This record gives sequence, structure tokens and C-alpha cells, in this order.
Amino acid sequence: MNPVLAYLLPRTGSWVSGMEVSKELGISRAAVWKHIHKLRALGCTIETSPRHGYRLTAGGDILAPETIDIRTKILGTCIVFSESVTSTNEVATKMARSAKDGTLVLSLIQTAGMGRLQRSWSSPPGGIWMSLILKPEIPPVLSPRIGMMAAVAVASALRRAGFHAKIKWPNDILIGDRKVCGILIELGAQMDRLEYAVVGIGINANVNDEALLEEWGATSLGKELGRTVDRSEIISCVLEELELRYLGLGAEFQEIHREWEAFSATLGQEVMVIGWSGNGDLAGKAESLDQDGALIVGTSQGLVRVLAGDCRHLRPLNRSGCRSTAARPGSEI
Ligand code: BTN
Repeated sequence: MNPVLAYLLPRTGSWVSGMEVSKELGISRAAVWKHIHKLRALGCTIETSPRHGYRLTAGGDILAPETIDIRTKILGTCIVFSESVTSTNEVATKMARSAKDGTLVLSLIQTAGMGRLQRSWSSPPGGIWMSLILKPEIPPVLSPRIGMMAAVAVASALRRAGFHAKIKWPNDILIGDRKVCGILIELGAQMDRLEYAVVGIGINANVNDEALLEEWGATSLGKELGRTVDRSEIISCVLEELELRYLGLGAEFQEIHREWEAFSATLGQEVMVIGWSGNGDLAGKAESLDQDGALIVGTSQGLVRVLAGDCRHLRPLNRSGCRSTAARPGSEI
């Protein structure tokens, strides 16, 4: 953790002089000032006064290992924290084999965040960019359960925080019809043994509106709520909800499957799955989700099982044959 932040945190709301910080930390006042600059760029609200020095604003959204209340027994009990990394999934994958089950890799920004389907993932300050290293004792064929579990856990955590979160297949989290969270699962496996799963979770928590404009159809928790959310508390809740389900991943999967269906924004919708196989796109009605996480789509050719792809929800046609809402460009989410 940044040493200046570590010093200011327990003194949140109180003024501390530059001299005091520099003396206590054994660094120059210029170095203190550099840290302050860096922390501000990362989203910390630190006031400065020529007379009083520095003050970390109370009620600001500070994210650091020390601010996360770990109420779990396995997940997040070991935290690898950075101010900036290329991608938390990349860091987690590199250390996965030797890491403890449940290790949390967390960064304030990512410079090369990765999304599903080889896309990039914009990760400015204010978001929750985290990856968990999991070592579930399940055979590799059951690994699709991990993504379903993660989606259900994040949706539950956001619901606890008062958001009406829904899941868009396979594991995007929406508020209304806008995406607030994406999940990227990467696996390390032998033929018959799952060595580890890296569960990458990206939540647009307090990212600013300009950053959101880059991602069409995206929203943030802060924007939905009209004020800054407490990222540390959201992370604590995600860890709790995940751990609850992680322990039952093998034997009690029916319940996770049932929750996924209950939280689904996709089932019952007319959908278009882009690039679902080499044959192009697939249109039809999302009928159900099977135990392997595949979406069952009813098409003019019958039921089709879709294991991966980019799913778009089509708006229903109204009586005159037009999509029902045309206020925003495009007709799918
Ligand atoms: C998606 O395309 O919807 C998945 C996005 C996943 C983003 C998260 S942010 C934390 C972790 N690190 C990454 O590079 N990606 C995941």
C-alpha cells in the first residue's frame, strides 16, 4: 500500500502536516507531495492547505487492503494489491499455481484490462478490478459452473447493496438494460484435473461518466445511485456471496442454477448470438440454461445449444413490426 495513504488512513478527516508525514515515513517532503499527487490521480480525495498540510476527506471512496472488511474464511484472506497493473487476470494467472486458494488480486487501475472474446476492458480509476484465484475440487468438465457461480454471487452482492442487478448470458451483470459488470474466467487444467480458475470481475463502481461513454450500453453503480458507492464494502459482499456458493459448487449446484435462472435478464428474450459457431449468427428465443451453462435457443430449426458467443437481446417487435423502443441508437443490448 502507498505509505502516505497508510499514514493518512487512520487519520481520515484530520489535518497532518507535510513535515510530520515526511518525518514519520523517513522520506523527503517532495516525495510526500509526489505520493499525494499519485493518490489523487487514483481517485483519493486529499485536501491540501499551506497552513495545515494534508487531510484525507472522510466519506471518500478509498480502496486498499486495509479498508476491506474480510468476513470470509477462504476468499480474500490473502490480498495482492497494486495501484496499477496490466491486468489482474494476468497477474493472477502468473501466480496461480503457487497461490493459496481464494487469493484476491486487486488493482486501482488496469493498463491492459482484458474482456471476453479477446476484447479489451477499460479500467480507469474508480472501478473494482479484481481477480480471484480459486482451486475448486471439480473435474474440468464442470468448469462452466464457475462463471455461473460468479455471476450469481456478484448479482446477489449488488442486490444486497440495493441494485436491481440481473444476469445477461453468459455472465454479464446488468442494471436495467446497461452493463455494470463483466466477468472473465480463465482456467489452468490438466486432462482430468482443474488446477485453478482465475475469476476476473470488473465492476464499474465509481468510474466517471466520460469513461462510460467509451463503452456503449454501460453504466456504473455511482451513476445509478446518484452518489459514490463504497467499493470496499461491495468487494466484501462479493467475497461473502462467492464463498457461500464456492463451498457448494460440486454437490449443491442445483441451487446456483436456480438462482441464475431467477436473476436472468436473458431467458424469455429474443436474442441474437453473434459468431456462435463458424456458421455466423443465430437468432431465436432464449428458452433455458442447461447444467453446463449453455444457452438453449429456440430457433426456426428447433432447439440449439449455445456454449459460447456474444449474446444480444433484441427488443420485441410491436404490432407494426418495429422494435419497441427506438430512443437510443441500435436495437439490442
Ligand atoms: C467481459 O468482457 O465482460 C469481461 C470483463 C472482465 C474484466 C475484469 S476486470 C478484472 C479482471 N482483469 C481483467 O483483465 N479482466 C477482468
